[in-house]
Amino acid sequence: MSRPLRSPRQGAGGEGPSVITLEGIVVRGEGRGRRLGFPTANLRVAADTEPPRGVFAARVHRAGAELAAVANIGTRPTFDGQEVSVEVHLLDFEGDLYDERLRVTLDRRLRGERRFDTVEELRRQIAGDIQQARSR
Ligand SMILES: Cc1cc2nc3c(=O)[nH]c(=O)nc-3n(C[C@H](O)[C@H](O)[C@H](O)COP(=O)(O)O)c2cc1C
Repeated sequence: MSRPLRSPRQGAGGEGPSVITLEGIVVRGEGRGRRLGFPTANLRVAADTEPPRGVFAARVHRAGAELAAVANIGTRPTFDGQEVSVEVHLLDFEGDLYDERLRVTLDRRLRGERRFDTVEELRRQIAGDIQQARSR
């Protein structure tokens, strides 16, 4: 049984008032991320959790290490999604994260989620998001 994502906590761990930390178990998404070229770990979200929406530069805490990541929290309008998902793409990591428990810190909001006319445009935008996340 997977445990639900916890409610966002502001300023957890004394990292400053704007830091939000989410925690959850990695569940299977629809597998599009891998085909997009940016595989994501989808975190299980509890029904009563309302994480902030958008695209973020983030860090993932896993097995005692901290990995740079980008996060998308939203409905994936490009694919006519309905449910809000919390997904993270780790920048320098290849591997299977299914069923792992991850802690995700949202560092900076990069932009709002939006609908793209083509998958190629979305791909280009995500590449830009990653560049921005790396440049600090
Ligand atoms: C950094 C980042 C930014 C994203 N931005 C958008 C966006 O603006 N619009 C959108 O529809 N989906 C966006 N996505 C979500 C992708 O559509 C999603 O990762 C892909 O469909 C895979 O979903 P799946 O794991 O459920 O298969 C973004 C994903 C990432 C990692």
